[in-house]
Amino acid sequence: MEKTKEPWWKRSVVYQIYPRSFMDSNGDGIGDLQGIISKLDYLKTLGVDVVWLSPVYDSPNDDNGYDIRDYQAIMQEFGTMDDFDKLIDEANKRDIRIVMDLVVNHTSDEHAWFVESRSSKESKYRDYYIWRDGVDGNPPNNWGSVFSGSAWEKDEQTDSYYLHLFSKKQPDLNWEHEPLRKDIFDMMTFWLDKGIGGFRMDVINFISKDTRLPDGEKHPGQLYGNGSPYFINGPKIHSFLKEMNEKVLSNYDVLTVGETPGASPEDAKVYTNPENQELNMVFTFEHMDLDSGPFEKWDVQPFDLVALKENLEKWQLSLHETGWNSLYWNNHDQPRVVSRFGNDGDYRELSAKMLAICLHMLQGTPYIYQGEEIGMTNVKFANIEDYQDIETLNMYKEKREQGIAHEQIMAGIYAKGRDNARTPMQWTQDGGFTTGTPWIKMNPNTSIINVDDALDNPNSIFYTYQKLIQLRKEHDVIIHGSFELLYPDHPQLFVYKRKMGQEEWLVVANFSKDIQALDWQASAGQKVMISNYDDPQLDGETIELRPYEAFVIRL
Ligand code: NOJ
Repeated sequence: MEKTKEPWWKRSVVYQIYPRSFMDSNGDGIGDLQGIISKLDYLKTLGVDVVWLSPVYDSPNDDNGYDIRDYQAIMQEFGTMDDFDKLIDEANKRDIRIVMDLVVNHTSDEHAWFVESRSSKESKYRDYYIWRDGVDGNPPNNWGSVFSGSAWEKDEQTDSYYLHLFSKKQPDLNWEHEPLRKDIFDMMTFWLDKGIGGFRMDVINFISKDTRLPDGEKHPGQLYGNGSPYFINGPKIHSFLKEMNEKVLSNYDVLTVGETPGASPEDAKVYTNPENQELNMVFTFEHMDLDSGPFEKWDVQPFDLVALKENLEKWQLSLHETGWNSLYWNNHDQPRVVSRFGNDGDYRELSAKMLAICLHMLQGTPYIYQGEEIGMTNVKFANIEDYQDIETLNMYKEKREQGIAHEQIMAGIYAKGRDNARTPMQWTQDGGFTTGTPWIKMNPNTSIINVDDALDNPNSIFYTYQKLIQLRKEHDVIIHGSFELLYPDHPQLFVYKRKMGQEEWLVVANFSKDIQALDWQASAGQKVMISNYDDPQLDGETIELRPYEAFVIRL
């Protein structure tokens, strides 16, 4: 492949910031834009090229900014539009691009469009949202909201129901309605003209609904029907995305990544094949759902490496030269990976580095979520009152009403709750996030897991990430090479090859705390490109991998 044709985002590494929890500059306990600006040099040291900001728009914060009240204003708690412009400027000076979150499946119920829309059936904005009459005093269909309860809310003003796939303060927009699409496209243009580096698109594959809105299948033990077949990758999704691309995105050289729960590799191929002019890449959920039960994420299942490998292989092979992968273990909705697929006890550092090596050697654009680079862990608050996330709180209430024991619900929250990812960034031994009281409690382990200590220790997880980012910049095989999985059925080892022309790299990772033997054929000139122990032992016909050992060899 000619280098000149390589889009910049194929060699980039993205760092996700959840602004509320990243850095507070004014002591109100809430992270803000000036706080982010003050940490740009830190991000530069890490080496990332792109920062994705979770929403910073004006919002009443029912879902921490994923409920937008005004798409063209900055959330007061985060600062002003001047602060935002300064952020773009300061980031540009450091060759860092800022990617915004685009939340256009829904708005806040406090958005002016919705306030208008609900005011009367004749409102000019009525069709910006999805309204239906009830059926015999019941909601229009049996769909459940992702955040518990029905997906429909009855609005007394016009005696009809509106659809909200998330909270009732997040009414779904009606993409069938052309004036709505035009307003969204104009809003996107406003931000792109400020010089942002692209968009991460929130649940973008939910925007096209089957307008018949049929009942969903109701599974045993579930209170509501599953409507997702009628809105995931819905009938007009590709036409909406193509229109967005043609009218807006094609005018800029930006990164686009769609959040696409329920998308298969086949779907992803359609979304990301450059010939289709839709998106650059999407976030799969398949590997994140492997430890969930069939009907809900709270039904925690044991981690199964064989299933994880099989899934990642499927995505690697399907999108090779036909689309593009995004690579992630973490984000603001997922528990911390070191607590999930690694070992957050005695082997925290080793397993965090192992997971990083394993992910960053795959083909695709890697995403690092704030704190992942220092191995931040899940948190266990004893009281439900210490949790802030609407998904967690609604679920807790609903399950308690069903008579489920506190301890049983908490076990799910400890393993899967979104607040695991949302405790404040651990900058110093004392926290360093705020001089005030943080909006959500700190993880008490900041005394031992923090940025200060990581920067001081040349062996820290931070420097493994730094090196991985650097390797990607220097070696085409990471960007373009083919992928081959070895030992697919091995329950503890993840071993794969990347190849491009004469260049061949072998990635070896032990996902367990036990020693694992691996058949080995030393090759003359083999070189260790990165490892999490100082001295990988690579002589002999069998090698013994130590707990959570990982390395990459150029053969
Ligand atoms: C996905 C976002 O990542 C999540 O945080 C949010 O709650 C929902 N979409 C609704 O916007």
